[in-house]
Amino acid sequence: MTSLWFLAYLAVDFDGQVKPLLAKHCNECHDRAFYLRHKDSLLKSMQYPAGDERAMPPEGPRVPKSEQDLIAAWIAEGMKWPVEAKAMNDDLELTKAIRAQIVKQGDTPLRPYVEKVPGSNVSFEMLPVRGGKFKMGSMEKPDEAPIHERSVEAFFMSKTEVTWDLYRLFMFAMLSGEKPGEDLVVDAVSRPTKPYTEMSFGMGIDGFPAISMTHHAANKFAQWLSAKTGHFYRLPTEVEWEYACVLGQTKPEDAVFSAQKYAKVASKKPNALGLHDMLGNVMEWTADQYQAEAYTRQEPWVKSKRPYPHTARGGSWQDDARKMRCPARTPSDPSWKQQDPNLPKSIWYHTDALGLGIRLVRPAKLPTAEEMHAFWNNGVAEDN
Ligand code: HEC
Repeated sequence: MTSLWFLAYLAVDFDGQVKPLLAKHCNECHDRAFYLRHKDSLLKSMQYPAGDERAMPPEGPRVPKSEQDLIAAWIAEGMKWPVEAKAMNDDLELTKAIRAQIVKQGDTPLRPYVEKVPGSNVSFEMLPVRGGKFKMGSMEKPDEAPIHERSVEAFFMSKTEVTWDLYRLFMFAMLSGEKPGEDLVVDAVSRPTKPYTEMSFGMGIDGFPAISMTHHAANKFAQWLSAKTGHFYRLPTEVEWEYACVLGQTKPEDAVFSAQKYAKVASKKPNALGLHDMLGNVMEWTADQYQAEAYTRQEPWVKSKRPYPHTARGGSWQDDARKMRCPARTPSDPSWKQQDPNLPKSIWYHTDALGLGIRLVRPAKLPTAEEMHAFWNNGVAEDN
């Protein structure tokens, strides 16, 4: 009881008293997430005698006892850290902050790895795809021609389509234990509004692919995931997607198509690269604006200028065999939002695209902040 009285009496003014102390003595080398992780050793670290290698800050000067007491009171009160009204906007500065975190994590060798999303039990697997050249396109459809050679740099690709288990962590912040103000960078990424309807439409959640997200939502998901994990994730470009499909010798026999509903991810055999459901189950967003004549120009990726169409690849459970081909391209369309009762229509949900999902890519080489930003912000989130 005594301690409760003591705390009430001491109630510290974080912004006025504690924050400036941390800024003066510690912020040069640590951040808020670090203080939370080390809450049990923060005080001790300031109390070691000068010269002790554990003493903080390492090069001195010592933190005066009166200042330590303020920090102690703040810790005892639960380390509250009120967030300023708008800590960070979802802009290039945010992308730079996320990139700085990614750079700290360092490179990952081009080998399979498992990514666990912090604060949750959800993980997913990323597989390496070596760089190389291939023949892109086909003569079957005008928008697949001409067949032409492309070079692709090495990247990782998610072994499966993104599941609801993973996507729902982005839709509902509480699911991954996020509390407002705890991670300013994660907080700042734009998040979906609550859907007006159950978005799996009764087709299943655990282990099933997430569907019906807009291109904007898919991009923001990749950005959020990057902020959470410290690795750069984005949508595949059309070139990367087709390369992984062709190099993996993906077979239509291993595709879920002409079906009643979607199947759990990886219900069928993987291709030669280990990737499941490249064809069928759900088609997958690419980063590109769809242009029927895109191959006459051969840009590495066609950046969005208009809300529609963007390209989806791989065909879905709703399609027939004609879409179960690596070169087949599907343009997005405003009719994918037909049943959306919201006016203006939601920037997050394609309520009529029940066969549309996401597969993730992580390029082996980290691009510039500007390029990352361009991938995460298609610039045409609104329909008009
Ligand atoms: C000039 C850089 C610098 C400053 C300033 C600094 N630290 Fe550190 N601190 C480090 C380094 C380096 C480590 C060891 C590596 C690590 O754990 O990240 C460390 C480690 C720690 C640890 C972890 C010890 C453990 O249990 O492993 C704590 C706690 C800590 N610092 C607290 C503080 C506090 C509190 C302040 C401000 C009073 C402060 N530091 C100021 C560089 C700094």
